Amino acid sequence: MAKIGVFVGTVYGNALAVAEQAQQILELQGHEVEVFEDATLEQWQAYLQDVILVVTSTTGQGDLPDNIQPLYTELTDKLGYQPDLSYGVIALGDSSYDTFCGGGCTFDELLQEQGAKRIGDVLLIDAIEVAEPELFAQNWIEEWGTSL
Ligand SMILES: Cc1cc2nc3c(=O)[nH]c(=O)nc-3n(C[C@H](O)[C@H](O)[C@H](O)COP(=O)(O)O)c2cc1C
Repeated sequence: MAKIGVFVGTVYGNALAVAEQAQQILELQGHEVEVFEDATLEQWQAYLQDVILVVTSTTGQGDLPDNIQPLYTELTDKLGYQPDLSYGVIALGDSSYDTFCGGGCTFDELLQEQGAKRIGDVLLIDAIEVAEPELFAQNWIEEWGTSL
């Protein structure tokens, strides 16, 4: 069973609801799970040999929410390479924006550049089509947790 850190970027709480759903499902599967809002680099670094799930919405024009942007900046500036990390990304957005799910996709690109290993595809959740993102994400989370 895996040690999993769930790192959340949210403005209005939708991504947090998905993260809490993920915690519930993954714990039922026997994983050890902690959810982080306003996370620090140190909290991230505690998972460098383990598993991270990034659950983030998009704000502005393809930007990361304020509660996860500082972590992204620190990862970019201070970490560089994280080859032993396995991760997944759930990206929330709205397809009426040009930069659909830009926040989650930007995070994914950074982790790819830094040599981390993505488990599964990025899950994109479109607010135009999905009223309850935490229910929509259930199957993806179950499959992701099983494949760890
Ligand atoms: C001011 C504002 C800007 C947004 N910008 C984008 C964007 O650039 N790209 C996108 O895909 N979604 C964008 N969205 C949609 C949100 O990402 C989407 O509604 C998401 O479900 C919100 O999740 P949250 O409650 O966790 O923040 C924007 C929403 C707002 C209110």
